[in-house]
Amino acid sequence: MTAKSGTRSWLIFTLLLFWSAAIGEARPPKPQPKSPQPIVRKEWRTLTNPQKKAYIKAVKCILAKPSLNSGEPFNTTATGVISRYDDLVYTHIQQTYSIHYVGHFLAWHRLFTATYERMLRDECGYKGAQPYWDWTLDTPASQWTQSPVFDPVTGFGGNGPYVAGDPDSPFAVPGRTGGGCVQDGPFAGINDLVHLGPGESYSYNPQCLKRDFSPYFAGRYLGINQTLLTLSQSDFGWFNRFVEGGPSFEASGVHGGGHYGVGGTLGQMGDLFVSPADPIFHLHHANLDRLWWSWQKLDLAARLTDISGPLFLMDYSNASGGNATLATPLTVGVSGQDVTVGDVMDITRCGTAGALCYDYDNLYTL
Ligand SMILES: *[C@@H]1O[C@H](CO)[C@@H](O)[C@H](O)[C@H]1NC(C)=O
Ligand SMILES: *[C@@H]1O[C@H](CO)[C@@H](O)[C@H](O)[C@H]1NC(C)=O
Ligand SMILES: *[C@@H]1O[C@H](CO)[C@@H](O)[C@H](O)[C@H]1NC(C)=O
Ligand SMILES: *[C@@H]1O[C@H](CO)[C@@H](O)[C@H](O)[C@H]1NC(C)=O
Repeated sequence: MTAKSGTRSWLIFTLLLFWSAAIGEARPPKPQPKSPQPIVRKEWRTLTNPQKKAYIKAVKCILAKPSLNSGEPFNTTATGVISRYDDLVYTHIQQTYSIHYVGHFLAWHRLFTATYERMLRDECGYKGAQPYWDWTLDTPASQWTQSPVFDPVTGFGGNGPYVAGDPDSPFAVPGRTGGGCVQDGPFAGINDLVHLGPGESYSYNPQCLKRDFSPYFAGRYLGINQTLLTLSQSDFGWFNRFVEGGPSFEASGVHGGGHYGVGGTLGQMGDLFVSPADPIFHLHHANLDRLWWSWQKLDLAARLTDISGPLFLMDYSNASGGNATLATPLTVGVSGQDVTVGDVMDITRCGTAGALCYDYDNLYTL
């Protein structure tokens, strides 16, 4: 090797060194684990038939999975809590008086349906997001029974046959038309689909799924008129009261519109305690949640922290009872982590900082 060629090879070596160092410098940093993106909730009728089928299949899977409620400190007298599905119905019954007609009603139910969505995905391999049911599309009353949500093949089945009741009873939902076991769809003909209830009962009580449609009620409280009136409220306290309505049928809001429009007097959806026993519950509540998110998005910066309303059932005028705050605790029992209202104010917050991680394909606007 000559001195010259030696120098040159040293030069080349040095250049190579700098070059690779420079390349090293320019090389992008190690790829970080991809941060999760919100899954997108869509309206039931916009899903493809295979997507609808996959959702119903996951619901049936959760209905069949064994309950996680066992041992201490579980209530051993609650013999009706058999499935993972029952775990959620049970926690709803248990908390009925503390999660309705309160300031954290929407926050608790937001967490509840997101928990169900996560169970369907993590425990039953469902790949989609929780669908919502935009019931405004199924009004006026004359269109109610034709809703694609009640489709016998691509939906949740329809009404039960008419069962007479006392029309003067204070529980007689105006315009009720059914009351018996659902006759078609994926949940028909199952005599022990529902294990809990009616009302506050936790003991094993096998029942069919019942519906008691009131098209009149749905037409009156689920139209776009009622929905936009709710959306136009300027503070959270009033927005929430419009959603929940009052304690009488006459004073209902969109929340009662869905429950009594489907469940009437005799169906599970009309039962304040055991209503999540009807799988339609979560489509209805996803839309109530979408309405709340629509309201939040009208002034997001302010409304990500806007929360008020009683801590105790219908305690609307009791100042000493106090208001729900961002620190108000929420629990879904064995099915998820305990969080606070503040943790569920932003549905799109993903990763370790977020209790939720979903969005809607479109929202209501004024
Ligand atoms: C346990 O269940 C029984 C009825 O099955 C009920 O009366 C009681 O309140 C429950 N206890 C708790 C702590 O939930
Ligand atoms: C909305 O329209 C329905 C159907 O016409 C009616 O019964 C109901 O009272 C209306 N609600 C409001 C808030 O205007
Ligand atoms: C006000 O709220 C407190 C706390 O919930 C309750 O103990 C009290 O009975 C309430 N008073 C009235 C008049 O509602
Ligand atoms: C609760 O919030 C309302 C406003 O939404 C307010 O008028 C009321 O004074 C609050 N009550 C308490 C006890 O903080």
